[in-house]
Amino acid sequence: MALLLNEFEDLCISTPDAELDQPLSYMQKERLRQIKICDFYLKSEVFNALCEGEVKDWIMFLDLFLSVQLPLHIQDEQECLFPLLFKGTAAQEKKIGETIRYICKEHKFDKGLTEFVMEDLSTLKKGRALVNPLRLELNLTTLLKGLSNHAHWELESFLPLVEEKLDKADLEKMAARMRETRAQLQ
Ligand SMILES: [Fe+2]
Repeated sequence: MALLLNEFEDLCISTPDAELDQPLSYMQKERLRQIKICDFYLKSEVFNALCEGEVKDWIMFLDLFLSVQLPLHIQDEQECLFPLLFKGTAAQEKKIGETIRYICKEHKFDKGLTEFVMEDLSTLKKGRALVNPLRLELNLTTLLKGLSNHAHWELESFLPLVEEKLDKADLEKMAARMRETRAQLQ
């Protein structure tokens, strides 16, 4: 249990907003953290503790991740990054358009599944037992495995590609948009 508590403390620490000056490096760090979060909540002992209401912090953080941090991941990409990528030849624009459509499709699927998971989490947040814990287990496992694969793919394939396309002015625009998104949340 002590190891799990240490692991949990580590994954709760978001990348500081001060690092938004380097928006791609910020995104890389947040994708790595997303993978750690998924690995943690995919552990059967963590899932059992959630259902038994043993560690309230674990329920509250999963709720925060799905309701605030995951939407920020999606906004950072769809609103702050993707519009900057349409430059170059028609063939290059076509290719990036296809990649973006694929990412957006995954984001949409994740949002849909998140709603089902959040319904069960709201019951656990009230300290009540789930009538059908298997439903949460299946939905949560599908969601977390998908989010982990998505973050791995973005880290290994998408972000390196993007790095080649953006110049200093683009990165400054992207950082400014990401700051605005966060200011609107406050
Ligand atoms: Fe994404």
